[in-house]
Amino acid sequence: MTIRAVVKGVGHYLPTRVVENAEFEASLETTDAWIRARSGIERRHFASDGETTSSMATEAAQKALDMAGLGASDIDALILATSTADFTFPSAATMVQAQLGMKNGFAFDIQAVCAGFVFALANANALILSGQARRVLVIGAETFSRIMDWTDRSTCVLFGDGAGALVLEAEEGHGSTEDRGILSTDLNSDGSYRELLYVDGGVSTGTTGYLRMQGNQVFRHAVEKLAATATTAMENAGVTGADVDWVVPHQANIRIIQGTAKKLGLPMEKVVVTVQDHGNTSAASIPLALSVGHARGQIKQGDLLVTEAIGGGLAWGAVVLRW
Ligand code: UT7
Repeated sequence: MTIRAVVKGVGHYLPTRVVENAEFEASLETTDAWIRARSGIERRHFASDGETTSSMATEAAQKALDMAGLGASDIDALILATSTADFTFPSAATMVQAQLGMKNGFAFDIQAVCAGFVFALANANALILSGQARRVLVIGAETFSRIMDWTDRSTCVLFGDGAGALVLEAEEGHGSTEDRGILSTDLNSDGSYRELLYVDGGVSTGTTGYLRMQGNQVFRHAVEKLAATATTAMENAGVTGADVDWVVPHQANIRIIQGTAKKLGLPMEKVVVTVQDHGNTSAASIPLALSVGHARGQIKQGDLLVTEAIGGGLAWGAVVLRW
């Protein structure tokens, strides 16, 4: 008997405030044309004053629970991937637990920056396979607008806010690649690349800090490492690119998404792309793309998906799952 962590529900939340590229032209030496050409981003959503990572995560989680036909009390574990928790502690996950009215089980944050959702999925899978949890809410939620240096045109035009969530449930599979659920995971990190992407504040400085990035260096690592981790995850699952229905990549830059798909030998017709509408929402980008891809009718039950992400750390990884 093989236990699989199967997707039962998906949902997302985007703040209502939409900011088009052209709005940055008033305050920065930038243009809509530059942002589109270099990143593929056209607009992004920014949280309003009352909105937080935990409030957006709660909205997304409730939608995923509704789709699964479950209540918060049916969930054993809640994992929230975020680098922008509302407070230093408690975890944003326990705040979501309270907001959902979930009294049982346990909740914790995972911090792997833009790779956070892939790390959260792998950990949720491990909890389910080890029998420690039967149903897990896996959420990615971020308010990167609150760690932007609005005078730095090389970063502040790239990021956005939002949240996405999945409900995973243990189900018996046959042990074959035809099973629904998570088929393999691959996680990596290398802390020697800290300087490429970090926030210059935190407990040690007494400030929240701002995101700092050597974008073109991160870009170079991204295509190579994303293609490598996706290939490893596919090998671990026993599938090839020909079996894949959808690549659901971290949405940082259309050129990274295209470059990675090309390296994997997969056509862009098989890639879910939302970066034009969301910008880079860090750990929220993959669950947002899963939810939007599902709502668009692209992702259907039985489809084979590869998700891959890279971010600060550097940390990167991939998950292969059958929807
Ligand atoms: O999600 C976590 C991982 N993060 C990423 O994956 C981001 C990875 N990096 C990228 O997406 C791209 O590197 C960027 C979109 C950040 C930049 O694109 P690029 O093609 O690598 O450009 P660049 O950094 O090499 O900069 C080219 C030029 C520079 O000017 P000079 O030095 O050539 O005169 C920049 O100062 O573009 C300039 N520039 C801008 N110009 C207009 C940088 N930002 C802007 C801007 N508007 N907003």
